[in-house]
Amino acid sequence: MSESKGKIGIIGSGLIGRSWSMLFAAAGYKVVIYDIDANQVSSALEGVREQLKDLEKSGLLRGKLSVDEQLQLISGTNKFEDCVKGAKYIQECTPENFELKKKVFQQLDQLADDHTVLASSTSSMPASTFSEDLKHRSQVIVAHPTNPPFYCPLTEVVPAPWTKPEVTTATMSIMKEIGQVAVLLKKEVLGFALNRIQYSIVQECRRLVSNDVISVEDLDKVMTEGLGMRYAFIGPMETCHLNAEGMANYSERYGEMIYRITETFGPNPKWEGPGHEKIIQEMNEQIPLDTLAERRRWRDARLTALAKLKREME
Ligand SMILES: NC(=O)c1ccc[n+]([C@@H]2O[C@H](COP(=O)([O-])OP(=O)(O)OC[C@H]3O[C@@H](n4cnc5c(N)ncnc54)[C@H](O)[C@@H]3O)[C@@H](O)[C@H]2O)c1
Ligand SMILES: *[C@@H]1O[C@H](CO)[C@@H](O)[C@H](O)[C@H]1NC(C)=O
Repeated sequence: MSESKGKIGIIGSGLIGRSWSMLFAAAGYKVVIYDIDANQVSSALEGVREQLKDLEKSGLLRGKLSVDEQLQLISGTNKFEDCVKGAKYIQECTPENFELKKKVFQQLDQLADDHTVLASSTSSMPASTFSEDLKHRSQVIVAHPTNPPFYCPLTEVVPAPWTKPEVTTATMSIMKEIGQVAVLLKKEVLGFALNRIQYSIVQECRRLVSNDVISVEDLDKVMTEGLGMRYAFIGPMETCHLNAEGMANYSERYGEMIYRITETFGPNPKWEGPGHEKIIQEMNEQIPLDTLAERRRWRDARLTALAKLKREME
């Protein structure tokens, strides 16, 4: 069964390239990882082995294949061509640098056949910005994952204006097949949806702290003990719908008030100045920089437990 699924090429074997390799292999695809740095390829293969073992231990391994079966599906190469030739889908995972993305997609353009999906993991660059001059531009699309992809399955699929509808459909369906939750952006917009929402939250949080309304520590509790509790299960739209007798009733009851309050938000705060310095200082006191690694492990343990809970509740 695993052999019949076809080949996936992963370009760039950093944090995100490794995650994609695991996701595709778990679904039975043959995965070939390429990196410009040969050491990265071998450390990726080693890293994937360790991560798969950890996932098995926490009961979060995806698919029906064992760790060994999944590992057998993943190989590394330091030849670009070996990764790209014969692949039905390429997931580009090189650093977030415009000139680099342009160069990598030009290289892909030389080797790709007329059917390969050419997907980028970029968090910020619409595909139209780096694919315009390519002869295979109608096969280029963005598939932006959420880090860490094993616990946060959301992937934003963002076609360029010239992306073929078949390529969009194929990308949506392969994401679904490997257990990602794909959402389609109907047009390109800077920051896509996830980061636009994240940035509007972070900017209002920074205003509240800079204006000395609340401490950094208490501000974060507003999310972790309040809004975040429900957002793991219901989004902002459904929250409105459930918090009244439906959305129409919610808008009649609260719409004017929400509009009035958000009109007072004030200018978009820059990432500098005394208010900003205060946030940095409070954050460094709360979580000293030499404890970040420890705190990330703390976070990942909780994300693992939440991912498991969500799976059980489905
Ligand atoms: N890290 C995140 O949280 C996150 C989340 C979503 C999307 N993304 C996006 O995914 C992409 C990759 O991010 P990452 O965090 O894995 O980066 P990373 O720096 O961990 O890995 C990038 C890898 O690409 C390799 N590389 C550099 N130039 C290359 C080339 N020309 N050809 C092949 N490989 C090359 C590097 O050696 C490195 O191994 C970026 O576009 C990023 O914006 C990252
Ligand atoms: C909203 O629902 C409440 C409770 O059913 C009702 O009393 C109220 O009239 C409704 N408001 C509007 C504006 O529909």
